[in-house]
Amino acid sequence: MSITTATSWPSPLPQRRLGDFNVSAIGLGCMNLSHAYGAPPPADVAERLLLGALDAGCNFFDTAALYGFGANETLVGKVLAPHRHRFMLASKCGMTGVTFADGVKRVIDGRPGTIKATCEAALQRLQTEVIDLYYLHRWDKQVPIEDSVGALADLVRAGKIRSIGLSEVSGATLRKAHAVHPIAAVQNEYSLWSRNPEISLLGACRELGVTLVAFSPVARGFLCGQLRDVSGLDAKDIRRTMPRFAPDAFARNLALLPAYEALAAEAGCTPAQLALAWLLAQGEDIIPIPGTTSLAHLHEDLGAATIDVAPDLLSSAEALISRANVTGRRYNAQAESEVDTEEF
Ligand SMILES: NC(=O)c1ccc[n+]([C@@H]2O[C@H](COP(=O)([O-])OP(=O)(O)OC[C@H]3O[C@@H](n4cnc5c(N)ncnc54)[C@H](OP(=O)(O)O)[C@@H]3O)[C@@H](O)[C@H]2O)c1
Repeated sequence: MSITTATSWPSPLPQRRLGDFNVSAIGLGCMNLSHAYGAPPPADVAERLLLGALDAGCNFFDTAALYGFGANETLVGKVLAPHRHRFMLASKCGMTGVTFADGVKRVIDGRPGTIKATCEAALQRLQTEVIDLYYLHRWDKQVPIEDSVGALADLVRAGKIRSIGLSEVSGATLRKAHAVHPIAAVQNEYSLWSRNPEISLLGACRELGVTLVAFSPVARGFLCGQLRDVSGLDAKDIRRTMPRFAPDAFARNLALLPAYEALAAEAGCTPAQLALAWLLAQGEDIIPIPGTTSLAHLHEDLGAATIDVAPDLLSSAEALISRANVTGRRYNAQAESEVDTEEF
């Protein structure tokens, strides 16, 4: 029998195992501080949020080379590098901003040389010697997954990263990757309204001992109840490209909210907390990483790790916000072609 000791950091929050680490049961997705849902917050607000997360016991931070085309890693490095001994740092490669004559564009590139160069740049931006968990953000279908994971395994051996993750992959791709090098975590979208991991990924994760990091766990804001009108979204807000947020589909989805909010009230928690509590109840091997620009929302979200919601209320939420009731696909056709996940 082999005994492994996990790396842990002090935290008042419940902890969950991720590879050789113990991290807070809820982590922080840092994307929104530089990218995605309208104009990013001012630097001082972002700084307060990151430090506030650390002080509240969150010790698992998620960023990527893609977010703000390097700006998010730079922000996380600037603010959190002095506290590097207090948290697990996760970032991603394989999808970055590349400069063309007409501007910077998002490019998926999983070639080994690109992965290694992206990691070097990330280490500089993050002001760290090692990244604890480094994900392949998207499987580049032009490159065998074994080659991309092989490059990540080289980075582990070189001491530049401590463990390997994959994002937006199926159970079949996870198995191929895991045969090359143990995979510590898969980061896929998982929430009450995105149950795709239940098709095959979750089973593969459990068989292989891989943690599922659930991104967009509060449905990109939908399950928090505050977003009621998509017409006001910023022109560059990525939700404008997503079928579920298209006006007609969104109107149908909105009709589910009052009953959902009533369940949260009955549970004595907020709608966002109910969404997170449901995810946490799906297994000890699931770690949600909500994103927020607001300290109050952050405290609310982390609070979901310490509440108890009656199983019958979780079941009611699961039946209400279900594949059968939610209108619209997760991604548009272009984005769907870029992922390797099984879509309903
Ligand atoms: N691997 C991938 O391909 C991938 C894709 C997407 C995201 N991610 C990761 O997952 C993280 C989270 O995903 P996400 O940001 O897309 O979706 P999310 O966490 O489901 O939702 C974020 C949205 O919800 C709002 N929100 C959060 N908590 C709230 C609360 N308690 N009350 C009211 N509103 C609340 C935020 O607005 P406020 O700012 O107003 O709080 C924001 O608009 C990202 O930061 C990123 O690290 C990964």
